[in-house]
Amino acid sequence: MVFSRQLTSKEIEILIRFQEFVKHAHAESDSHDYSHVLTVTRNAIKIAKKIDEPVDPFICIASALLHDIGKSKPVFSHIHGLLGGAIAEEFLEGCNVPAKMRDKICRAVIRHTPTSMIPPETTVEKVIFDADCLDRLGLMGLIRGFVGKTGSMEEILSTYLVKREKDYATLHFEISKELGEWKQQELEGFIPFIQKRLEDRMSSIKDIFKKENLLGNDAKNNDN
Ligand SMILES: [Fe+2]
Ligand SMILES: [Fe+2]
Repeated sequence: MVFSRQLTSKEIEILIRFQEFVKHAHAESDSHDYSHVLTVTRNAIKIAKKIDEPVDPFICIASALLHDIGKSKPVFSHIHGLLGGAIAEEFLEGCNVPAKMRDKICRAVIRHTPTSMIPPETTVEKVIFDADCLDRLGLMGLIRGFVGKTGSMEEILSTYLVKREKDYATLHFEISKELGEWKQQELEGFIPFIQKRLEDRMSSIKDIFKKENLLGNDAKNNDN
């Protein structure tokens, strides 16, 4: 199955307007980058083209572009889905998007993140949820997972790994799991390497003396 239909030139014009709005809004935000929005849009298209249920391309792409618009405002990140729904509603109304379409897009924006505590229900809502989730996986997801975090690198990494395992389990479609698995494979070998390096960084001062052959005989005897 591909999309339920193709985009009209008028819709393409509107989506380009959305893209400009989102690009501008994210440029002023310090929490989320515009490349994430484009990646989620690409992921959403990939997923929608491979699933059995029909998806409207305009609603899908508009939802993907607007999904993190709530992050363009300095708010507590947990409510960015809900706030994004309100911002999207106002913006879409200003663009004369019909009420029925607005409603579908805003629902997808609100439900794209588990932090909204309202799980996705419709196919397009699940597509956007999965598309967003996929950008938290793989090498780029790992890098994004470190951005803006405070605390030790060990803690950030171990929290990241636990969360991503949960994320993978929440994916809705086979194609999402396939894409997710491929992304996780990127990290195989890389994660143990980072863990080993982090462990090395935490070597005690005495371990360093040993490794660098700085222990005199009396110290070696004391050590035994
Ligand atoms: Fe989000
Ligand atoms: Fe996102």
